[in-house]
Amino acid sequence: MPHDTIIVLDFGSQYAQLIARRVREQRVYSELVHWNTPAEQVLANQAVKGFILSGGPASVCEPGAPTLPTYVLESGLPVLGICYGMQLLAHNLGGRVAPSQAREYGPAEIELLAADSPLFAGGRLQVASGTLQVAGGTSQDASPTSDLQPATCNLQPATLPVWMSHGDRIERLPAGWQALARSSNSPYAAMGDPARGAYGLQFHPEVTHTPQGPALLRAFAVDICGAAADWTPANFIAEASAAVRSQVGQAHVLCGLSGGVDSSVVAALLHQAIGDQLTCLFVDHGLLRQGEAEQVIDTFQRHMQVPLVAVNATEAFLTDLAGVADPEAKRKRIGHRFIRVFEEESARIAAQWIPASAAVQHSAFSVPRSIGYLAQGTLYPDVIESASGSREQAARTIKTHHNVGGLPEDMTFQLIEPLRLLFKDEVRAVGEALGLPEEIVWRHPFPGPGLAIRVLGEVTWPRLETLRQADAILLEELRAAGLYRATSQVFAVLLPVKSVGVMGDNRTYADVVALRAVTTDDFMTADWARLPYDLLARISNRIVNEVAGVNRVVYDITPKPPGTIEWE
Ligand code: XMP
Repeated sequence: MPHDTIIVLDFGSQYAQLIARRVREQRVYSELVHWNTPAEQVLANQAVKGFILSGGPASVCEPGAPTLPTYVLESGLPVLGICYGMQLLAHNLGGRVAPSQAREYGPAEIELLAADSPLFAGGRLQVASGTLQVAGGTSQDASPTSDLQPATCNLQPATLPVWMSHGDRIERLPAGWQALARSSNSPYAAMGDPARGAYGLQFHPEVTHTPQGPALLRAFAVDICGAAADWTPANFIAEASAAVRSQVGQAHVLCGLSGGVDSSVVAALLHQAIGDQLTCLFVDHGLLRQGEAEQVIDTFQRHMQVPLVAVNATEAFLTDLAGVADPEAKRKRIGHRFIRVFEEESARIAAQWIPASAAVQHSAFSVPRSIGYLAQGTLYPDVIESASGSREQAARTIKTHHNVGGLPEDMTFQLIEPLRLLFKDEVRAVGEALGLPEEIVWRHPFPGPGLAIRVLGEVTWPRLETLRQADAILLEELRAAGLYRATSQVFAVLLPVKSVGVMGDNRTYADVVALRAVTTDDFMTADWARLPYDLLARISNRIVNEVAGVNRVVYDITPKPPGTIEWE
């Protein structure tokens, strides 16, 4: 049974994915499609209950601007236009859109002119101190399980803090539409034609700076579109398990496991779905952090009893890296070696599979054939990017679980990608529901080439060990300070220079460790984390005192851009 679906049409907004995520947070399934995706493709989903038109950088008045696909209004389904999407609705229905005198960007306040509109939850938003709030007070309370209470008082004017970002504005409404809200700069900050279930918002309900945004999106999706709020981790797990079972039948599935959240959730999900038909392959390239290989093996093999083949290929990787200092050369060598190890080991594993359907009968015995499925943790953003053609190859790419290269095309595996409908935060929710430990579900991302790109210059085992110790101290202190979840990626880097120091009465000439801690939403841009000085002091003291051969610690205060997150 398909889930009731809200289609988000992407007109180029940086927030388009966020809209779909926010709708899903209200437990209503939502898909993001490029605005000119063919109608047949969009409407092939029988369970479409409504449309949201995203914002976008264009102006509806300029030639060549994205247009409103005719099927949206012809469908008779509810529609919500956000910013550019609102202007498109107005423009198409006979309203007037014009450049605004002053661009409105940032926080703003809107005055509600029709607080009882279905879009404002039909009066189920509570008025407090003249400001509308979701009953209970915080946007958290707009969760699907909360009971929104009827308005308890009616202070006027009721205002709502929102986030604006637009150049054009609507100057005349289309016939039959009414103004639902205004701001000092926009006479129509919200508009609606309740009879046809059509609405427009000049502001962005999807960003956190619009605290009542979740409640508005829920009102649209659930109340106005009538979509069922059934998109939950438990439902996803049940449906994805059933789908995998019917896809693979009795065949075997190989899952490359890195210990990162995506491959771990794939492994846990598949194990729940098909039990011992799953084999996980974990390649330890010797470039992991302290205790990491043991943790992966312990979690999956011992606790979850997932059949796991762990290969320690450290020697082969380090041999390949000997004498190599160039970052890209390191990546290439690691990538090539990874493919070779993965190929060899997977062939060995597949040779043991004798699925009845794949076995070729030779009078008295069966000949195993290397047939099976390869599972990988492709996520929804990858699928969206491929579909929109923004990637070089629209064809589905096979990414290894380490992202260090590509698996060869002639492998006899078919792909299964059970997470291809999920955003990262949904993967985490599913991981939690599957009982994966917190350290795995909330693990910071770790690059495929591992510590090889954090030991600057040549990678040797002693230098890897030095870095591992420093990194372990950094992460231990970060966790102890309760700041692991508040940061996006935190690690130590071993620099290829020595510096002079003094320890006791002795002059030292030893290694320098740099600490890198960033916060980011998407890893495309990032800011350095303002870690407390006393935490930095503790980390620095411990590293210099406990890690032999290190006498200096520095903190990287470069944002991305112009820096990158990694140093190589
Ligand atoms: P940069 O350093 O480009 O990193 O700002 C952005 C994110 O990508 C990760 N990263 C990699 N991940 N293979 C990977 O699987 C790589 O070669 C690689 N290089 C960088 C990095 O850790 C950060 O999360």
